[in-house]
Amino acid sequence: MFFPEVRMRRLRRNENLRRMVREHRVSVDDLIYPMFVMPGKDKQQEISSMPGIYRYTIDRLVREVEEVYSLGIPAIILFGIPEEKDEAASGAYDEHGIIQEAVRAIKKEVPEIIVITDVCLCEYTSHGHCGVIKDGEVNNDITLELLAQTAVSHAEAGADMVAPSDMMDGRVAAIRSALDAEGFEHVPIMSYAAKYASAFYGPFREAAESAPKFGDRRSYQMDPPNVREAIREIELDIEEGADIVMVKPGLAYMDVVRAARENFDHPIAVYNVSGEYSMVKAAAERGWIDEKRIVYEILTGFKRAGADLILTYHAKDVARWIKEGSFGRY
Ligand code: PBG
Repeated sequence: MFFPEVRMRRLRRNENLRRMVREHRVSVDDLIYPMFVMPGKDKQQEISSMPGIYRYTIDRLVREVEEVYSLGIPAIILFGIPEEKDEAASGAYDEHGIIQEAVRAIKKEVPEIIVITDVCLCEYTSHGHCGVIKDGEVNNDITLELLAQTAVSHAEAGADMVAPSDMMDGRVAAIRSALDAEGFEHVPIMSYAAKYASAFYGPFREAAESAPKFGDRRSYQMDPPNVREAIREIELDIEEGADIVMVKPGLAYMDVVRAARENFDHPIAVYNVSGEYSMVKAAAERGWIDEKRIVYEILTGFKRAGADLILTYHAKDVARWIKEGSFGRY
């Protein structure tokens, strides 16, 4: 059948009809909110390139997490800025490190929210790389040991899930076996499986003070043109025991999300990273775009591509918009 019998516009005539045939929707259940924690008391600092996103001291972070949970968001992912950085990233696996203390404080006050911890060394090394430097290079195998130690220290503090973002080879297996050996076999791993060496992380590096002091991350993060390689990375992480696999960044890598969806049945997360957030905020501040509608299209696009979970700095706004019934309805 063709026109005039077929008229695609029939089911688009009004919002109720459109609601009935909508194929994908973003739910508050899909959201993971990234948060930054810093040392000190009763302070917060807005990240200049990420309006609305702050670094909080632990006391303020806990208050903020209460608000996040009250909006219905099921999970947060934590990034820490330590008091001091050194060559061995000792702040990353210190029993009383910033993340370990933050997790304990959150779990005491908001026990039900799922606390995911980012497992990486870049915020804790004096040089800003994601691993230990040996002979001028990021050494893979020495780093694995420290990542495993970091993950265990997070689990000991009460983390519900760990998320390695370093892109060392073999880290999921190393973390899985260390967690299991310490009695944390119930703690899932969400691996940053296909993580690209991306300029979209710029604002995050300001937020976490984690920009590399020399060189860049291209010897461990993925080369942007590659998609078959992403499938191999994801496959390896799944073989090593990842429970959830992530693609990062999001917007410029939607094809990777789709390819992951077609190849694997594991839950897939996508990270709508800092630079993607900043671009939307900057354009919205100038009045050039309609922020809510843009965010709706971006997040819906992730769902259409095949993502189950979305890590996004827009999470609080989105949760509010969904609650008031205005997300995707004009
Ligand atoms: C740590 C890490 C980074 C991000 C998440 N975990 C930065 C990086 O790899 O340089 C980026 C997140 C964002 O841009 O929002 N390795």
